Amino acid sequence: MLSLLAKLNWPFLVLWAAVALSGVCIDRYRRSRRFGKLRGCQTSHKQAQVKDPFIGLDFIHERVIRGLSGRRLLDCIEKFKQYGSTYSVDRLTYQVVQTCDPENLKQVLATGFDDFALPSSRVSVMGELLGSGIFTLDGDLWSHARAILRPSLAKHKMDRLPSILEHHVQQFLTHIPRQGEEVDLQPLFFELTMDIATEFLMGYSSNMLDPSRKREKEQQFFDDYMLCSEEAIKKMSYGPLRFFRLNLAATKAKKRVFKYMDEYIEECFERQDGTAEMTDKENAFQEIASAITDRQSLRDQLLHFLLASRDTTASLLSNLFFVLAKNPQTYARLRSEVLSKVAFETPTFSGLRDIEYLRWCVNESLRLHPVIPSNGREATRDTTLPRGGGTDGKSPLFLRKGAVVLYNVFSMHRDPAIFGDRVDEFVPERWSGLRPGWGFLPFSGGPRVCVGQHFALIETYYLVTRIVQTFERLESKDPREWVELPGLAMTCRNGNKVGLYQA
Ligand code: HEM
Repeated sequence: MLSLLAKLNWPFLVLWAAVALSGVCIDRYRRSRRFGKLRGCQTSHKQAQVKDPFIGLDFIHERVIRGLSGRRLLDCIEKFKQYGSTYSVDRLTYQVVQTCDPENLKQVLATGFDDFALPSSRVSVMGELLGSGIFTLDGDLWSHARAILRPSLAKHKMDRLPSILEHHVQQFLTHIPRQGEEVDLQPLFFELTMDIATEFLMGYSSNMLDPSRKREKEQQFFDDYMLCSEEAIKKMSYGPLRFFRLNLAATKAKKRVFKYMDEYIEECFERQDGTAEMTDKENAFQEIASAITDRQSLRDQLLHFLLASRDTTASLLSNLFFVLAKNPQTYARLRSEVLSKVAFETPTFSGLRDIEYLRWCVNESLRLHPVIPSNGREATRDTTLPRGGGTDGKSPLFLRKGAVVLYNVFSMHRDPAIFGDRVDEFVPERWSGLRPGWGFLPFSGGPRVCVGQHFALIETYYLVTRIVQTFERLESKDPREWVELPGLAMTCRNGNKVGLYQA
């Protein structure tokens, strides 16, 4: 082997490789120029400064440090102010475009949907920690998964939701002290949405909030899942270096999460067979289980579905009550509007939709603290974005196959051109007559729009109404500001410590 290596004409080989590489680069450059010219693209003049042009160590370092400080999203806003609403971070190895321009989001998510796929980093990291489900699938596999999940959220399936919500919100209320004693609402909201999601989707509830139950197993599942969720976000921020990040605790947590799900699914099957009681015979589990026979795929799909439904809604509720607690006048107005429409009665779904101020408060929370604040897509072929090229950034921008577009909903939701003044404050009144279109995307848009949007909003309106009916006053017990806790759904790092006073 060594003698063979010695015989090789190394200078010639190096020269040959250099010529071949230059040829590929020139060809790629010519193709992209021709492609871009045809579509009116211009070079991006908004380029972030790059110190390491190969792997992007500077970028990775910045993201990791920002993540630790809990200021990652606020810093993103500063970057957009510095470079404009779409800017490139070009390296020799890959192209990244950061954007918070509604036109570009519309292109990536809807108009140009077929030119983009999920970023490979997300597919590998989420797949590794949470299995392969709808959040990691593309193409036909994704269409198939979506077609299986969607019918379980059809309108007529919502008929049984009010009784499920009522039962679990009453259990939730038993955990809240009535005379202003401090309570952290955040973990309680996670338990509440878990109890609701499991009952609605799987046919029987995890009953985490049932005071008569020992909850160690559920608590362990909750902690394990949170660890996996945080690890997934951390790993993604490591970019191409993610393969070097090892976290044994997360690996063990993942195994326990899978085990918990496997046992839960087993129990669902047993209940279906009639060996134990089931609260509802018509549920998503039955439909999904009849379409997916392989146990591992079934577990992965259900895990993704359950978490899509549980974490997001819990985060929304927690974020909303965080800002309501800091704004007692808004809480008072919300309560008075709720009582004027539904008094202390059990609300109906149509009644809930009539409470305009409730909708404004929920929208405003989703604007200020979008639960999925940033996301990305990868170009599957040479394509374009409508904005980002030219000196003013208003011309189309060419994207090479493999380029990653990172779109930032958090920054877009704080754009004064879309939302007016005081964008950093919680002002539900701004929603009077406001139609932000693609500027407001808490549930994403296009073919991959959230399938549970209707479910999530009805659930949130119902739960908020019941809590607001019960408590006359809400006050914050934490002087600190809201600080992001990056996870697959974003909540406040310090929880949500409040005091509530019964009417
Ligand atoms: C406040 C609550 C919720 C928010 C803010 C939210 C937000 C989102 C967003 C932004 C996406 C797109 C993710 C992406 O493209 O990468 C999404 C997808 C999804 N959501 Fe929701 N969601 C919520 C509640 C729910 C609920 C309650 C369910 C189920 C009952 C659900 C099921 C799903 C599913 C299955 C997807 C994947 C859709 C696909 O890729 O085709 N979500 N959600």
